[in-house]
Amino acid sequence: MRLDGRVAIISGAAAGITGKTQGIGGASAWAFTREGATVVIADINDELGERTVAQIRESGGKAIYMHLDVTKESQWRIGIETIVRSEGGLDILVNNAGIGIPNYDTASDDSISPEEALKVEFTTVEDLDRELRVHARGTLLGMKHSIPRMRERGGGSIVNVSSIHGIVGAHTVTAYQAAKAAIRQLSKAASIQYAKENIRVNSVHPGYTKTPLAKPLFTDPELLADRTSQIPLGRFAEPEEIAAGILFLASDEASYITGAELVLDGGVIAQ
Ligand code: NAI
Repeated sequence: MRLDGRVAIISGAAAGITGKTQGIGGASAWAFTREGATVVIADINDELGERTVAQIRESGGKAIYMHLDVTKESQWRIGIETIVRSEGGLDILVNNAGIGIPNYDTASDDSISPEEALKVEFTTVEDLDRELRVHARGTLLGMKHSIPRMRERGGGSIVNVSSIHGIVGAHTVTAYQAAKAAIRQLSKAASIQYAKENIRVNSVHPGYTKTPLAKPLFTDPELLADRTSQIPLGRFAEPEEIAAGILFLASDEASYITGAELVLDGGVIAQ
């Protein structure tokens, strides 16, 4: 039991139904509870989150659902207070909630391809703000309100879910890239600022992963072929394969790791 007795919040973890396409957060919730943690699934998709929690509990795991919009500071403050009161403290935070890649099918301008429409010239201020709000603001607020609680426990582990798109450039998804890069650097800042208090902060950088969010990429044959051709291992990741990395960083096996970037991408950015 690598997380026995630990209390963990995972944002954006609603998609964890067995037999259906799971998200990285949903798969992490299963991995954490199998290792003995009490997991708080924090999401805005209440119906799906409640169903995932019910399944985890049926299988003997300890899980709680909490409605949390990661962009709302008051919800973080109240949510974390509630968890600390009911569970006695907080040890682990996974900032995983995310929004995609805008819908490729509904790109507004017919004269350019959906991929073109996500380049710098066509990116709107609203696109940028929307991506930064969930990814950068959400990650900052999660860390800000968790750190004082981790301090009370004598330490903790924060894992922030960035992307390969937060490290290297790509020909599309401009606003998403900016937001994912912000997560990478927020992680570095916090890792330096709280290392002395035994609060470790790391970022994970998944490549193409079969989740509900990335569905357009693996259901459209053209996009699937294009992305797969970029992957040395020749296939998309399963969400469990990313969850394994998150679990490692959250656990004491990673006790000497802070400020690190764990790339889980089948070799994409090694090229
Ligand atoms: P997913 O399909 O599980 O969707 C993300 C979850 O975040 C959903 O449950 C959604 O309801 C929740 N969410 C969205 N906005 C929220 C908000 N304001 N407050 C609370 N929850 C909110 O997605 P997936 O793909 O597992 O994504 C998880 C993370 O992994 C995201 O940060 C994503 O950017 C990142 N990622 C995904 C990759 C992929 O290929 N699937 C690759 C690299 C990074």
